[in-house]
Amino acid sequence: MTARAVLRMGDARLLRIAQPVPEALFGSEELANLVTDLIDTMRAESGAGIAAPQIGCDLRVVIFGGTGRNPRYPDAPEIPYTVLCNPVIEPLDDAREAGWEGCLSVPGLRGEVKRFSRIRYTGRDSAGHAIDRTVEGFHARVVQHECDHLDGILYPMRIDDLRRFGFTTTLFPEWATQ
Ligand code: NI
Repeated sequence: MTARAVLRMGDARLLRIAQPVPEALFGSEELANLVTDLIDTMRAESGAGIAAPQIGCDLRVVIFGGTGRNPRYPDAPEIPYTVLCNPVIEPLDDAREAGWEGCLSVPGLRGEVKRFSRIRYTGRDSAGHAIDRTVEGFHARVVQHECDHLDGILYPMRIDDLRRFGFTTTLFPEWATQ
């Protein structure tokens, strides 16, 4: 398929509450094609993950991981490649941690966001198989960031201290790429 244009912050389509993937779409060519476009777009942009609304698709589908060491997140541990439809996130406790995030819809910028440290997430892959994982740290952060897109939330909306928000090349000049 093809890498698609990523919608940028300010586009009203990023603010919608996305629709659940209907039962009939699991295992379909239509959903497989969407996932392929998401993968191609994520890899073209070196993203850690991407959500369907970011390419203008109003469905509760996110993908993340599987890129090995990510040049946009050089210090982050690897996350297994995952297609997650109709996700549900459950924090395991109240612990939260601050970390720097970026977003393909907010290019060139990073901001510090608090996320739950440990979560359980459930959902289904594109074939309809159940996914049920308990994760922590960066993996938990990526899932929370991507699933926020399904509810029309971009990470700048979650920054507590806007002094911790700026251009990647200024904040992290040691990084070769952003
Ligand atoms: Ni994002």
